[in-house]
Amino acid sequence: MNVIAFLGSPRKEGNTELLLKEVIRGVEDSGFSVQIFELNSMSIKPCQDCGGCDETGECILNDDMEGIHKAIRTADRIILASPIFFFALSAQTKAMIDRCQSFWCEKYLLKKPVPAGKAGRKGLLLLVGGMKKEKGVQCAESCATAFFRTINVPEHSVLSFLGIDKKAEILKHPTALEDAYREGRKLVTV
Ligand SMILES: Cc1cc2nc3c(=O)[nH]c(=O)nc-3n(C[C@H](O)[C@H](O)[C@H](O)COP(=O)(O)O)c2cc1C
Repeated sequence: MNVIAFLGSPRKEGNTELLLKEVIRGVEDSGFSVQIFELNSMSIKPCQDCGGCDETGECILNDDMEGIHKAIRTADRIILASPIFFFALSAQTKAMIDRCQSFWCEKYLLKKPVPAGKAGRKGLLLLVGGMKKEKGVQCAESCATAFFRTINVPEHSVLSFLGIDKKAEILKHPTALEDAYREGRKLVTV
């Protein structure tokens, strides 16, 4: 099974990264490897709404999104991990998602959704927010759902933690790391 993960936090060894590592450990213990994209260190220009992908489903900008587009096309499992920033996904995550407008054109204008392999296509959304406000999860999830459906991932699970603000504070949570590990194993169970 081909598994990819997007890390949308800029904070090294922060809460999102620590949780993602546990999910990945779960996936790896099930016998699969994970290709990780650290969005903060990649060159991803925001979508220019140039219409360049309208007729072909191919983005015409040249940067690190090229590799991400390829990886999304062949992935069976996609993990999207982001902190909640201003009641939404982080800018790093959102920039990557906006550049998937080419998949939107391919699916909805050209009627050619990304084909699923034998294992189907499934997603996992990981969210961490510093405030105890459910609205942050709801807003971020709306965007993530649009992303998953656009890249032809028909179902996804959500694992979210609120009230976790300081760097690595997630390590003090009574169940978070176990929960993340379990989600990783579940993600690749057919
Ligand atoms: C720019 C910025 C905006 C934030 N906005 C929110 C917010 O709207 N809601 C919330 O719950 N937490 C917010 N936070 C707190 C982060 O979600 C929290 O610190 C989280 O643990 C960061 O995860 P990380 O360590 O993986 O980067 C914000 C933090 C930053 C830096």
